[in-house]
Amino acid sequence: MNDWPFASLRQVIDEALERYLAPQAEVPERLRQAMHYSLLGPGKRLRPILVLLSAQACGGDYRNALPAACAVEMVHAYSLIHDDLPAMDDDDLRRGRPTCHRQFDEATAILAGDALLTLAFEVLSELEPGALAQDGCRTLARAAGMAGMVGGQMDDLLAERHELPADSQLLHRIHLRKTAALFRAAAHLGGLIATWHRDAEFREAALRALDAYAISLGLAFQIADDLLDVEGQEGHVGKRVGKDARRGKLTFPGLLGVPAAREKMFAAQEQALAALQFFGPAADPLRQLAEFVVRRKA
Ligand code: IPE
Ligand code: IPE
Ligand code: MG
Ligand code: MG
Ligand code: MG
Repeated sequence: MNDWPFASLRQVIDEALERYLAPQAEVPERLRQAMHYSLLGPGKRLRPILVLLSAQACGGDYRNALPAACAVEMVHAYSLIHDDLPAMDDDDLRRGRPTCHRQFDEATAILAGDALLTLAFEVLSELEPGALAQDGCRTLARAAGMAGMVGGQMDDLLAERHELPADSQLLHRIHLRKTAALFRAAAHLGGLIATWHRDAEFREAALRALDAYAISLGLAFQIADDLLDVEGQEGHVGKRVGKDARRGKLTFPGLLGVPAAREKMFAAQEQALAALQFFGPAADPLRQLAEFVVRRKA
């Protein structure tokens, strides 16, 4: 992760995440260790960084958005644990290390995922005022749930099993839900927290711009992930490569070929950048993030 331009924010996030996973009397140590292994492993922390940068783009102090940023990363970490399970993508390598169920065992990995998902909503429910907590919980629940990430993951598996017609319209809908939905929730949460006391007109315009940005960023991000599976090096990516083709996953490189998939990724990046016009220079870090997403090697 030497080329990661947001190392200092990542550090702030990791310190906050550590605090949520301190040992507690009623928490079985094996469960806590499995949660810690997956939440604090060497990932990019891209989604919590998106929460913080979205708050900053709206003129807010990123520190106020730190709990929400942690909640989003908890949902992400749970989604990776479950995504890697034998019943799903059946992967043995994540972030350059054994996947959670390989390091511990399947039952422990399932429970660690359950507990991270639940903890995310406990953290969000503590936002103040209560109306902000309610709005935040609804945002993340909808993004992570049946019409969002979980729904996208279901269709990803159904497409792999050839139980859905494999076309680019379906694939677009899969990527929007399994990946972009959480990006949208991240940007929305950061924007919501930073604009809570601003006038409604500014808040609505800012949230609209952030949403348009996050949709395209999420799409570009998943296409980049699919391209790395084709062209990346295992040592950099920290995951097995070539696994999408082996499993018959529906991906843009698989469906359209690598050059057309890359074009689609850059088009999505352009759309993401265009959405940021509303903010001016306050959104420069979000512009940098969009650049990183399409150039990344991991
Ligand atoms: C991997 O996400 C899962 C996808 C949605 C493609 P990341 O590439 O953000 O994973 P980490 O957190 O950096 O390991
Ligand atoms: C994962 O997509 C999306 C999630 C919601 C976790 P992938 O299955 O392509 O992610 P990797 O390649 O295993 O990280
Ligand atoms: Mg998957
Ligand atoms: Mg996977
Ligand atoms: Mg992938």
